[in-house]
Amino acid sequence: MGDAILVEDVYFSYEGLPVLKGVTLTVRTGEVLAIMGENGAGKTTLIKHFVGLLKPERGRVLVFGVDTREASVAQLARRVGVIFQNPDHQLFAESVEGEILFTLRNMGYPPDEARAICERVLKLFELDRYRGRSPYSLSVGERKRLAIAAVVSYNPDVLVLDEPTAGQDFFNKSKISRLIFGLKRQGKGVVVVTHDVEFAAQVADRVALMVDGRVIREGPAGEVLTDAEALKRARLTMPQIPAAAALLEAEGLKLPSKPLLPGSFYLELLDLLNHRWVGP
Ligand SMILES: Nc1ncnc2c1ncn2[C@@H]1O[C@H](COP(=O)(O)OP(=O)(O)OP(=O)(O)O)[C@@H](O)[C@H]1O
Ligand SMILES: [Mg+2]
Repeated sequence: MGDAILVEDVYFSYEGLPVLKGVTLTVRTGEVLAIMGENGAGKTTLIKHFVGLLKPERGRVLVFGVDTREASVAQLARRVGVIFQNPDHQLFAESVEGEILFTLRNMGYPPDEARAICERVLKLFELDRYRGRSPYSLSVGERKRLAIAAVVSYNPDVLVLDEPTAGQDFFNKSKISRLIFGLKRQGKGVVVVTHDVEFAAQVADRVALMVDGRVIREGPAGEVLTDAEALKRARLTMPQIPAAAALLEAEGLKLPSKPLLPGSFYLELLDLLNHRWVGP
């Protein structure tokens, strides 16, 4: 794991309206970071800084050691692929297939290689049956999937997904989780911006909570997603499993660790109950 993106005390405002008020954050390779927080907290504004679409007014952003003020968006985008909240801003081509080919050609892949990668990616994302269709004829969920596919195709070192699960059905949501785990296994850095605490509990190693242009809490997912006070400030609810664990604790059943997911929760609970029944 290495440092991929360093955000150092970044300030930014839109036409005089302050939106980022001193954000410090690190994105690492081989790790999934979830950025969470209320609407308007500045999450999308922050990730636009990761590829130099916006530049800090104060502070700096380093992408693999390069200050975003000193590089073009095209250069930065090779290393950091961003899939924006609204995929429509990212789709340009006349066909689904063309969209992926266009992205690959743009990133400098020779035609033959681009074609081969495109085929693989169309299959992987189950988009091959739409290959000739206009991206605009796709459903919202399909369009989002196409935008993810186009970025995954050119293999950036860091992938940033703004609300990847919004509008996705249960099946596609699980596929996105698996994709994220796969990217992490390949050593990529993954950033997900999400309002979905259960999804964050599933995929994130670290969580950063944003409130009004600041990161108010950052740390391992198991700590941040069980911090009732910080979650409340970020207007999030606790995921169901730690919430259930907290209820049990109030009843005197304290689990040894703080589980986030059902598997470990049940195991720990069983262990604790066995212990009780069998005695020390
Ligand atoms: N282009 C813009 N011009 C002016 N203000 C903007 C612009 N883009 C965003 N803002 C404002 O900046 C603030 C932060 O917006 P941002 O999109 O970063 O929030 P967010 O945390 O991503 O919210 P959401 O959860 O709704 O996606 C909001 O108050 C928003 O209205
Ligand atoms: Mg946003």
